[in-house]
Amino acid sequence: MRVTVPDLVAVTAACAVLGEGPLWHPLEQALFFVDIERRQLFRLVPASGEARSWRLPSRIGCFAFRRDGSLVVALEDGFWFFEPATGGLRPIVDPEPGLAGNRFNDGRVDPRGRFFAGTMDMAEKAPTGSLWRLDPDLSVHAVERGIGISNGIDWSPDGRRMYHTDSLARSIYVYDYDPASGEARGRRLFAQLAAGEGFPDGLCVDAEGFVWSAIWDGARLLRFDPEGRVEREIRLPVPRPTACGFGGPALDTLYVTSARIGLSAEALAQAPLSGAVLAFQPGVRGRPTTMFAG
Ligand code: BGC
Ligand code: CA
Repeated sequence: MRVTVPDLVAVTAACAVLGEGPLWHPLEQALFFVDIERRQLFRLVPASGEARSWRLPSRIGCFAFRRDGSLVVALEDGFWFFEPATGGLRPIVDPEPGLAGNRFNDGRVDPRGRFFAGTMDMAEKAPTGSLWRLDPDLSVHAVERGIGISNGIDWSPDGRRMYHTDSLARSIYVYDYDPASGEARGRRLFAQLAAGEGFPDGLCVDAEGFVWSAIWDGARLLRFDPEGRVEREIRLPVPRPTACGFGGPALDTLYVTSARIGLSAEALAQAPLSGAVLAFQPGVRGRPTTMFAG
C-alpha cells in the first residue's frame, strides 16, 4: 500500500456546508456538484472559471444528466426533472411518500442509463434508507432496503459489478450486476473500515476498475483493487471528504468535495479548506459519465 500526499488545488472557496457528488458533464466540460444542506446545485467550468448555482426547494442529494441539457434531481420529496436554463422543476415520482425523516443522498447512472439513488434517515440513526432505481421509462424500483446511510455507488468498467456504500455500517458492498436487466444480485462485503478509521462515503471506479472511496472523518481517499485490498491511501487536508469523481478533458483530474458540517471551530481552523472542492492528478484516468436515458 502506498501513502501519498497529493499536490492539490482548491477549485472553489471553502464554503460548502455539505459538498457532495462531483460529476463531470461530458458535453459541457463542466463540473457539477451540490451542497446538500444549502439546497444548492453548482456548475463550474474549470477551463474558464465560469461558475453558477441554483437553489432548490429542498435538500438535493444527487442528480443525473440528460441528453437535452436538463437534469434529474433527487430532492427530499423524490425525483424531479430540472431545467437549468429556467430553474423549472417537474415532478417524476416520490418513492418514499411516508418517510418525512428521510432524504436522498448519493446516486449515479448505471452503464445503460438507469438512475440509482439512495436515501437515508436525516438523523443518521435508523436503517430506514433504501436504494432506488429510476428506469428510463420513469418506473421506480427498490433495489435494497434497510440501509443506514446510502452512499457512493458505481459500476466496474465491464458493467458486471455494482459497488454500493452504507456509511453507517462502514461498509462497501459489491453485487453481481446484469447491465441488460438492471438486476443487482448476490450482495457481499467488499471492504469494511474498523471503528475509528472513518466512514466510507462517496465512491467512483476508475478506468482500471479500482475503487476510490472518500473517507469521512478519515481525511483521506482510499483506492481499493477489485479484490477489496487497499492499494493506495491519499491524505487530504480536510477531515470530511464526501465524494470523488474524475473530470477534465482527459478525465485525469480527480475532484473531491468536502464538508464543514459538524466540525468544531478548532477543527475548522486546523482544516480551513473544509467545504472546498479539491482537485489533483492521481496518475490514473476515470471513465466517462453516463447520462440518464429517460
Ligand atoms: C451524508 C452525510 C453523512 C455522511 C457520513 C454523507 O454522504 O450526506 O449526511 O453524515 O455521508 O459519511
Ligand atoms: Ca456521499
